[in-house]
Amino acid sequence: MTLDDPAAIARGDAHRTREVLAAFPAQCREAVGLRPEPGGPFVRPRAVIVAGMGGSAAGADLLAACAAERLDVPVLVHRGYGLPALVGQRDLVIVVSYSGDTAETLSAAEAALERGSSLVAVTAGGRLGALAAQRNLPRVALPTGLMPRMALGYLFFPLLAILKSADLTVVKDSEVDEALVALDAQAGALGPGRPAAENEAKRLALALGSRLPVIYGGPLTGAVAYRWKTDLAENAKTFAAAGTLPEMNHNEIEAWGSPFARQMQLVLLRDHEETPEIARRFALLRELIGAAAGGISEVWARGTGCAARLLSLITLGQWTSFYLAILRGVDPWPVPTLDALKTRLRGGAP
Ligand code: F6R
Repeated sequence: MTLDDPAAIARGDAHRTREVLAAFPAQCREAVGLRPEPGGPFVRPRAVIVAGMGGSAAGADLLAACAAERLDVPVLVHRGYGLPALVGQRDLVIVVSYSGDTAETLSAAEAALERGSSLVAVTAGGRLGALAAQRNLPRVALPTGLMPRMALGYLFFPLLAILKSADLTVVKDSEVDEALVALDAQAGALGPGRPAAENEAKRLALALGSRLPVIYGGPLTGAVAYRWKTDLAENAKTFAAAGTLPEMNHNEIEAWGSPFARQMQLVLLRDHEETPEIARRFALLRELIGAAAGGISEVWARGTGCAARLLSLITLGQWTSFYLAILRGVDPWPVPTLDALKTRLRGGAP
């Protein structure tokens, strides 16, 4: 199937995911202005813990990746029930749930209240929104109506503002501006109106075809490799593997000796700011395992600040997973099995 037939794309995308993805730069622009109410300033914490699951943890991953390069305060991403034992009164806990009804994240909020940590909620409503209202907690109120994984702008930029009001600058204003400009540029370049010959996301989806994507990032972009994997799972409903250099050099590199390597598409997430050590490792990786893979795609982050670099690669992954969904004949929007599990956990019928 061609990805350059607007009618075929419209048929495959009944929920108009393409419009949500095209509006991602505007979402980010709006998200930059969102603040918690009641607002800060918050006390500079000993540690920042961001609790969330799935799409609602993705902004936290980006925050932690940027903070690792810059902050003298640890930023931990917590996926699961409760909170790690170390969390206490001197810590800032940010609970993020787009729907506000995620059991694990609600349990993290309860744990933060019990331990007397500073607590901020980021949510579009649900039980977390109700808890914030009842306890008069600072809350970033998000617009409703999106799939959490497609609300990444809303789930990332407010975290920067919360940390800034706790005297922790993770991303400078100039870097935010750079990211917004990079996203605007990508919107035209990756959308359905741009033919495959000039559209990196369409070309990538076609290269992936029926192969298993194996995505590797570097120390900063490893978080993006995981995000590509989850977008491919939820949007294109297909498996993918994700890993990070240098760690995968010490284990997974051996798996490429398997005959299954022929069925894989190796996807390398590169970054012009990566160190010479990491660049050399990517080059050697290509030399050592490239011939074993079914195919290799190498893609590059845009910009110099961490926000532009991470978000530009994520945008490319979002569109790639969208086009792969269309090629596979699956609707990129709904996640029926994920929803069925949540319903069952709440005691409802499947
Ligand atoms: C669905 C999605 C999921 C959810 C996750 C948690 O689009 O991305 O990964 O993010 O099930 O739900 P929320 O985000 O509502 O807390």
